[in-house]
Amino acid sequence: MYLGVNIDHIATLRQARYAGNIDAHNAEPDVIAAAAICERAGAHGITIHLRADRRHIQDEDVFRLRKNLTTKMNLEMGNTPEILEIALRVKPAEVCLVPEHRREVTTEGGLDVAGQFDALKPTVARLQGAGIRASMFIEPAREQIEASHRIGAEMVELHTGAFANATDDAQRAELARIHEASVFANGLGLQVNAGHGINYTNIALIRTVPHLAELNIGHSIVARAIFSGLDAAVREMLAAMNG
Ligand code: PXP
Repeated sequence: MYLGVNIDHIATLRQARYAGNIDAHNAEPDVIAAAAICERAGAHGITIHLRADRRHIQDEDVFRLRKNLTTKMNLEMGNTPEILEIALRVKPAEVCLVPEHRREVTTEGGLDVAGQFDALKPTVARLQGAGIRASMFIEPAREQIEASHRIGAEMVELHTGAFANATDDAQRAELARIHEASVFANGLGLQVNAGHGINYTNIALIRTVPHLAELNIGHSIVARAIFSGLDAAVREMLAAMNG
């Protein structure tokens, strides 16, 4: 299983002090340095979300990371013309389309690919026309997987947030949903990724799900890095993922 480290919260910390002045000589922590540490620790990719409100990752970060990454960039974005134009200029290896609401603390729920099919289809086509692989961040539900397949996406990223927030029987039920969704998506020929709320504890259950190609993990790794350092935090997650 591959690991994409989401470094949005490295930028969150920088923005807390240097918003509007990220080029200052003392602006820290540096997202380029953070990405390099993740890559050296074995991460297979770097994931970032350029939000419409620019609350963490900034446009300049995206372009600088694109030049400096030695692995691949997975750019998460809402389906808006402004961000799409940026994605087409940056040309990351992959784009993951996500729902985005201004007041949310973090991405809430999956993208309604079935309901927004006509609005999403041209975006997927333009991304793919530029050589960018497309992923849809969706709830682990058949309807959304079928729609992602019909729209021509190469990948789905199954939203693991409900699983991560549940406990006991409810969590086991969510895990079963993810399991079933992964088998179904794989059967349609989609690459299956997962993300949101995955941490050092629940990874033990997530890794039992078949066909998962890549996990995108951010908050738990960045949180652990405060105590143990980013290199150790990434290595520990990779070990937990792959046993
Ligand atoms: N995948 C997607 C599509 C996301 O939107 C996020 C959160 O930005 C993540 C993965 C990472 O979630 P977390 O920070 O909870 O690990």
